[in-house]
Amino acid sequence: MQQVQTTQALQNALAPWRACGETIVFVPTMGNLHDGHLALVKRARELATVVVVSLFVNPLQFCEGDDFTDYPRTLEQDCARLKGLVDVIFTPAVTEVYGSPIELSTRVEVPGVSDILCGAYRPGHFVGVATVVAKLFNMVRPDVAVFGEKDFQQLFILRAMVEDLAFPVVIEGVPTVRELDGLAMSSRNQYLSASERKLAPKLYQTLLEVRDAFFQQSRPIAELEQKAKLKLKHYGFEPDYVSIRNANDLTINVTVDGPGVILAAAYLGGARLIDNISWG
Ligand code: PAJ
Repeated sequence: MQQVQTTQALQNALAPWRACGETIVFVPTMGNLHDGHLALVKRARELATVVVVSLFVNPLQFCEGDDFTDYPRTLEQDCARLKGLVDVIFTPAVTEVYGSPIELSTRVEVPGVSDILCGAYRPGHFVGVATVVAKLFNMVRPDVAVFGEKDFQQLFILRAMVEDLAFPVVIEGVPTVRELDGLAMSSRNQYLSASERKLAPKLYQTLLEVRDAFFQQSRPIAELEQKAKLKLKHYGFEPDYVSIRNANDLTINVTVDGPGVILAAAYLGGARLIDNISWG
């Protein structure tokens, strides 16, 4: 396993494999790895012999008031967890990814879908995500890239970006990995106090209840969403949204017969938690 910090060193490391025509699979992360990230690495390993993982806390996807400074950076632990599981760890500095000044560097935007749901509450976030992933794709030049369904909207946007810009990369989605009590694993869960941690699985439970109610077709969709938000508030969350969408296009045109997804984002204390359930 090699750890490299520059694109040049990364390309040098990958050259022998590329020359043999090996498939290169890439798992982009912001580090502070948990079992959700490792499920992506495992999937990557199933797909090819060469696995590259990036650890890069991307300043461009944090909005004002976000936790960029506080975001947990645990490089040593991350490298230890990846030992024996991956071939190359890519840990570029901010200046390697963005020419300075960062404000003037080129952006990648998938319009429309970047401004709804989480995008409506975190302006610029998905431009930051699309930009860094596009840049990382050009630095790594992978054949396949693996992302988690936990970030459903992010995965949707990145699939659109790859299609629109004809990136020669196959996108692979991996189901959400959860704690035993149902809470989706996330680096931000560590912001939760002990009492908040006990409450946190209510987010997933609420989504399961909304799904059951949706399939029973007992109430209009807007009413189900509103009721779910009130329930979350009652538990102690501060919900941004609970939304039932068509899983193919993220519009509100969703029926019980077609593909769907219920997405939610809610603050619990200082932690902004997101989760979703999809079907079809
Ligand atoms: P990060 O939050 O570190 O997540 C890296 C990858 O792990 C993403 O594809 C995310 O969806 C996946 N992931 C996180 N928690 C998961 C879970 N519980 N189950 C399954 N997959 C999970 O997402 C990002 O970083 C960044 O936006 C990034 C794509 C790296 C761009 O900076």
